[in-house]
Amino acid sequence: METSKPTFDGRPSIELISIEDGIVVGLIDMVLDTEELKTSFLGDGLGAFLKTIAVHPDYQSKGIGRKLYEAALIELENTPIEFIELYTRGDEQANNFYKKLGFELLTESYDAFGIEKGLRNPITITGIENKRIKALLENGEPCDYILVDGIYEVYDLKALEKIEYDRYYPPRGYFKKIK
Ligand SMILES: CC(C)(COP(=O)(O)OP(=O)(O)OC[C@H]1O[C@@H](n2cnc3c(N)ncnc32)[C@H](O)[C@@H]1OP(=O)(O)O)[C@@H](O)C(=O)NCCC(=O)NCCS
Repeated sequence: METSKPTFDGRPSIELISIEDGIVVGLIDMVLDTEELKTSFLGDGLGAFLKTIAVHPDYQSKGIGRKLYEAALIELENTPIEFIELYTRGDEQANNFYKKLGFELLTESYDAFGIEKGLRNPITITGIENKRIKALLENGEPCDYILVDGIYEVYDLKALEKIEYDRYYPPRGYFKKIK
């Protein structure tokens, strides 16, 4: 878990906060694709990657999350961004929130923290199929887990057996076309 707001190293971004009673009660951060550098991959064209949205627990379920999202949408109007993509390990509240805002659940997997039991050859990511990332081994066989930023992204519970993990979460990938 990150304990501070991410920075985007000068990349185009939307970073908004919500203030009530003089204190910050919510934030939303999106990093925007450019022709030179893309973070998103669930859609064609340029996307916005919703990195963080959070509302202080005492202020949740009062419409602040929705307002932050709608304010970000207005900021996106005059950009070439065509869709929003995000991943959440969140609970029912977070998943409901994205569905209510019209996001479509596209990918389901498990994030495992640990180390793989065997060594593998390089893999190639070829796209999305059946709500999961499709990746191939060098011999063309499908790959049931990939390593992303030090975390194993595992596509089914059986493949979890190949990882020596201390914990895992089930992240969901959501997508919404905005133009
Ligand atoms: C997810 C989160 C950002 C939503 O913000 P919020 O201000 O609480 O949400 P809103 O009040 O704007 O609610 C919008 C919709 O979300 C859903 N929602 C909100 N609270 C909910 C709850 N307790 N249970 C189920 N659904 C809920 C509802 O569908 C709601 O629509 P409705 O009001 O028309 O019924 C906020 O709850 C949060 O910060 N959660 C903890 C951090 C987190 O999980 N962030 C996302 C992880 S990637």
